[in-house]
Amino acid sequence: MKSVASAPGKVILFGEHFVVYGISALLCSIDKRIIVTSQTTDEKMIKIESDIDHIEMSNNSLSIMNESTPKTMKPFLYIIKKTLERFKKDVGIEVKIESEIPPGIGLGSSSACCVAAAASITALFEKLSREEILKLAIEAERTIFENTSGADCSVCTFGGLMEYDIKNGFKKINSKADFVLVITNSKQTHQTSELVEKVRKFREKNDLSRLGLLMSENQAYLERIGVSTGTLDVFIKEAKKTAYGAKITGAGGGGCIIALTDKSNLNQTLANLRNCGECFTAKIDYRGLL
Ligand code: PMV
Repeated sequence: MKSVASAPGKVILFGEHFVVYGISALLCSIDKRIIVTSQTTDEKMIKIESDIDHIEMSNNSLSIMNESTPKTMKPFLYIIKKTLERFKKDVGIEVKIESEIPPGIGLGSSSACCVAAAASITALFEKLSREEILKLAIEAERTIFENTSGADCSVCTFGGLMEYDIKNGFKKINSKADFVLVITNSKQTHQTSELVEKVRKFREKNDLSRLGLLMSENQAYLERIGVSTGTLDVFIKEAKKTAYGAKITGAGGGGCIIALTDKSNLNQTLANLRNCGECFTAKIDYRGLL
């Protein structure tokens, strides 16, 4: 018995990293695919072969996935193990992965592998729904990247343009948007899990200068969409001389700006801004409704 399935890679148009923390992302699949061919054998051996790795083991060693199991092989081994258990089969499986998507460069190659492998391997015994394949693919991806948002696997399974957030899952966008993406590859590969960990640490570190920079970048967008005013622009310019960053708060068109400081630059920022307008300081309230 032989079974072939393929899944597309993806790009994230908006919202990478933020999607891990519950913000929605906009993403679409691309016309580059991973093709997975599987077949059952009587040998009771598991053989997996891709352009970057290969593995061969007896089917009763599947439960011994450990540190020495090559990382790239873990999702496939997971899918094979789950499938043999689900369908109560004691056979060998050979899997071949062919790819049009370079790994580790943000084009969803590992998610497309998980989705295509889940579809191809389970179809050796029964054709499952796309929803079931997505569930298995996300579980498989978690063997190499525990905190995946599931966005990539969702778009690799259902294709097209979609909005995704962890709580509500995906919502297809029924647009036949006629654009072409020019994708340029730096050839610097990344480990998604390591970068997501870096972002987590960044969130925890409360890095004021970076936060200030982001606030100022946000302000530039607010100026571009026309909600700043001449007066606010003067405040911002003055604030940025000493604060970590500054931006409008709220709808703009007047109102206030906020400038990010700590004890190293608070007094100077306050003195400068007092020459421009009325100002006061505020700290975070952690008590909420009393
Ligand atoms: O670089 P990729 O193709 O693995 O995409 C990762 C996208 C993240 O938002 C950083 C993580 C996630 O699970 O959504």
